[in-house]
Amino acid sequence: MADSEEVSVSNDSEPLLSVRHLRKSYGDHEVLKDVSFDVKRGQVLVLLGPSGSGKSTLIRCLNGLETIQGGEIWFKGQKIANNSEKTWRKLRAEIGMVFQSYDLFPNLTVAKNIELGPTKVQKRPKAEVAKQMDQLLADVQLTEYKNSYPRELSGGQKQRIAVVRALAMNPELMLFDEVTASLDPEMVREVLELMLRLAKRHMTMIVVTHEMEFARRVADTVMFLENGVILERQPGDEFFTNPKTDRARNFLESMAPVGDEA
Ligand SMILES: Nc1ncnc2c1ncn2[C@@H]1O[C@H](COP(=O)(O)OP(=O)(O)OP(=O)(O)O)[C@@H](O)[C@H]1O
Ligand SMILES: [Mg+2]
Repeated sequence: MADSEEVSVSNDSEPLLSVRHLRKSYGDHEVLKDVSFDVKRGQVLVLLGPSGSGKSTLIRCLNGLETIQGGEIWFKGQKIANNSEKTWRKLRAEIGMVFQSYDLFPNLTVAKNIELGPTKVQKRPKAEVAKQMDQLLADVQLTEYKNSYPRELSGGQKQRIAVVRALAMNPELMLFDEVTASLDPEMVREVLELMLRLAKRHMTMIVVTHEMEFARRVADTVMFLENGVILERQPGDEFFTNPKTDRARNFLESMAPVGDEA
């Protein structure tokens, strides 16, 4: 698969993330069934699938927020010991995650929200972190909100700060789970554009989204999940023009704008 990627990117041919035969259940309900895939450095993997197919669960497993019942997760060539909270605590600096609901600390200013992880968890020098924060805030055009509290920001602004906060940890992998789903339409664009800029800068990302135009533009690879099984894994262009399974085709049709005949 994806021979072309071999030549394009770095000297580092080993995948950044490798998931092998992952199984996740809630009680008797098996939500992820033998899921295996790799993500290379610089790659953008878009995860699509109907509601309840297991997308959020998979993202959460990749950040150690769920215990798993089987399989292996490898990151930078090292196997992550199953369900080891200690390992995950370390890795969460390297694997950034942004969810649908803004998870900023409401009692802290924007600046404090951003600085907390890098200074307290990573113990990096304050001056260095402050400089990086200023650059990141300028990049998302929110410099003037540095000393504001989250309640003083719009939903779109909060989500951009949530992304900035994750980026301030210098992660090697970013996980995005429907980060625009609860935003008013006019705020969706600015968040999607930020993610497109990250992709252009070769940030390795796994993205769950219902924004199909965006998915098409950002995806190197699309993985289509149904009932906890990967039905398709294809280069983005191919998936959107020529899905292999009826299920994926139906899904794409169901996501088309109202009035569009496929
Ligand atoms: N904490 C939980 N306890 C029990 N079952 C859960 C839990 N979280 C998710 N599930 C179940 O796991 C399945 C997958 O859920 P998940 O949230 O991963 O789906 P999803 O693909 O993200 O859906 P959506 O597109 O609606 O966000 C669903 O059947 C859901 O009911
Ligand atoms: Mg979900």
